[in-house]
Amino acid sequence: MPTHPAIALPRLIAHRGFSAAAPENTLTAVTAAKEAGVDWVELDVQLLGDGTPVIWHDADVARCSDGHGLLSGLNWEKAQGLDVGRWFGDAFSGERMASLDDMLALLDRLDMGVNMEIKVNKGRDPIALVDAVMPALLDGLAPERLIVSSFDTAALRRCREFAPAERLALGALYGAVPATWRSDCEALDVFSVHPHWPRLKRTQADAIRRDGYALLCYTANDPSAFHSRWAWGIDSAITDEVAVFARYLDNQPT
Ligand code: G3P
Ligand code: MG
Repeated sequence: MPTHPAIALPRLIAHRGFSAAAPENTLTAVTAAKEAGVDWVELDVQLLGDGTPVIWHDADVARCSDGHGLLSGLNWEKAQGLDVGRWFGDAFSGERMASLDDMLALLDRLDMGVNMEIKVNKGRDPIALVDAVMPALLDGLAPERLIVSSFDTAALRRCREFAPAERLALGALYGAVPATWRSDCEALDVFSVHPHWPRLKRTQADAIRRDGYALLCYTANDPSAFHSRWAWGIDSAITDEVAVFARYLDNQPT
């Protein structure tokens, strides 16, 4: 097992920022997470058509903006013309798509950690994405404040070429944990495994923990349904509902 950055994992990580309270993947959603008492967020990063890294989940902009079309069809100027808040509520009208650089500056200012998901949507190039974002991530965040995850193995492999395990914590993202998880994780020297929580089996959780990996599960929004899983050794729940989860945990007997 290689040495990894000394990451103090939180119980809760705000999925796409505090996305139950603010438009996902925005500066406002990250600020809302901090205000709710959560110091770590999960965010998605991908590239505009002109190569600018932005914080965005979908392949297109229809769901989360007042525009339409593929992200890959936009340059920075066009992207900044979109309102990415009003779809969520009038109070968020005027919110603009965040660049990776703007987001890193905010995370630094708020003293927050990030699980940055390298989001390789269909037809996009994982290598170009990693090459564009990795220098900024390594420059912008201390090793203890950064976990880079992806469903895309080629992307993770490329990330590892930028920095060794002691400098860069990588996370293997899965739906159901596949039979190959152990060899995948060893080959990439990952720090953590990130399964879809309802599909994780107890035996898999035990094996993952026994092998020394951290275990971060997404996307858990009902704290009572998730409750029994804490005993499986899960380190962190990635949740849209940080306030609901935090309240629930606060009310548990110690
Ligand atoms: O990183 C956990 C989770 O965000 C993965 O799925 O689709 O919400 O990015 P998605
Ligand atoms: Mg994500």
